[in-house]
Amino acid sequence: MKQDSLLFAPMEINGMHLKNRLVKSATYEAMAAADGSVTDQLIDMYTSLAKGGAGLTITGYAYIQENGHCMPLQTAVFSDDHIPGLRKLVDAVHQEGGKIALQIAHAGRQTTSDLIGGQTPMAPSAIEADPLFHTEPRAMTIEEISETIDAFGAAAARCKQAGFDAVQLHGAHGYLIAQFLSPFTNRRTDEWGGNTENRMRFAKEVIKKVRSTVGPNYPVLIKISVEEGVENGLTIEESCIIAKGLADAGVDAIEVSGGIVADTAFVMSRGEVPIDQMAGGLEGDAKAQTEQALYSIVNSVKMEEAYWLSHAEKIKEVAGAVPVMLVGGMKYPQTMATIVQENKADFISMARALIREPALPREMAEGRKSPVKCGYCNRCLAAVVGGQPLKCYNRL
Ligand SMILES: Cc1cc2nc3c(=O)[nH]c(=O)nc-3n(C[C@H](O)[C@H](O)[C@H](O)COP(=O)(O)O)c2cc1C
Ligand code: SF4
Repeated sequence: MKQDSLLFAPMEINGMHLKNRLVKSATYEAMAAADGSVTDQLIDMYTSLAKGGAGLTITGYAYIQENGHCMPLQTAVFSDDHIPGLRKLVDAVHQEGGKIALQIAHAGRQTTSDLIGGQTPMAPSAIEADPLFHTEPRAMTIEEISETIDAFGAAAARCKQAGFDAVQLHGAHGYLIAQFLSPFTNRRTDEWGGNTENRMRFAKEVIKKVRSTVGPNYPVLIKISVEEGVENGLTIEESCIIAKGLADAGVDAIEVSGGIVADTAFVMSRGEVPIDQMAGGLEGDAKAQTEQALYSIVNSVKMEEAYWLSHAEKIKEVAGAVPVMLVGGMKYPQTMATIVQENKADFISMARALIREPALPREMAEGRKSPVKCGYCNRCLAAVVGGQPLKCYNRL
């Protein structure tokens, strides 16, 4: 890699100065304490990523409300009590010269009643159970919609208070913001559902609230699924309208992804589908349902290098001056450099490749040309879903 590659040119996002165009995309770590607080294990992981040289690291999704808790060992940001731990994490990353954003999320229907104190998970609409969480959610009331928007605002304020360089709203992969955006999960007939404008209302109100709590000079990023891979889900055509709406609403960067965790997780993270590992802990109907759902997608989610590239290019056309981050299946350093050089995306974001090799950005800056070592076997994904800590589980 030539040092003069644009991939290693600095770029600013609303006052955040990034040394290069490489981003560590958010990955759930399964490393927080049971109450959602930061552990030494989490700090160690992010220290190692910061040493690895990515311009920006985005944390795994942190939940903003107790009823938005998605996974047992997920980091929390619903209370001021979480701030000191988060600050320790930020300080450790800053000490290594890294920049870090907190990704904030509400699970909506993508959780289980056990995890949220026996309540029924809430979502835009009461729809049929999904094949992963086996959850039948209830529809949110207008009051709950408003409380949840406020909770996003309060969580973003905590993020800023803890010293994070930016906040990223998780508007992708079928979590609550995406559940409102998507006609697959949003079947409301009031002002929060129906046409694109109404389905965008929740995301826009969250952005407005977050902006009011963090102020104009703080980077607010969003990640969205531009193609969900389900019948009646979001497609790139509608996602272009949505991306333009989000840019107009004041987000500072859009990360382009796809898929819905509960229904099409391997649209999000293409590659091999570790069916035995995913269905291993289940029994009876749940096991059969999960296996059937996974077998039916094996052929459609094979790895392709930079698999959201053509989608990101379309989003870039409508995003105006708002930078676009491309995630999904990076392989060759040269391809990444060309994408940025040709202005098809402003940032290259990687999740699994940096779980496998945290030092990849530094090696690329020093001229590495060989492909990433991640084999996209998805064993890390199945492991965290099963409560194992995030790391590469394939050292072959
Ligand atoms: C173990 C694991 C955990 C993930 N957790 C998150 C998460 O917390 N938030 C998120 O936006 N995406 C999450 N993702 C999706 C990744 O950020 C990324 O969008 C996807 O894996 C495609 O990028 P890649 O090919 O570079 O891995 C996760 C993926 C994996 C493999
Ligand atoms: S387990 Fe390792 S090789 Fe497999 S997808 Fe995860 S990081 Fe890549």
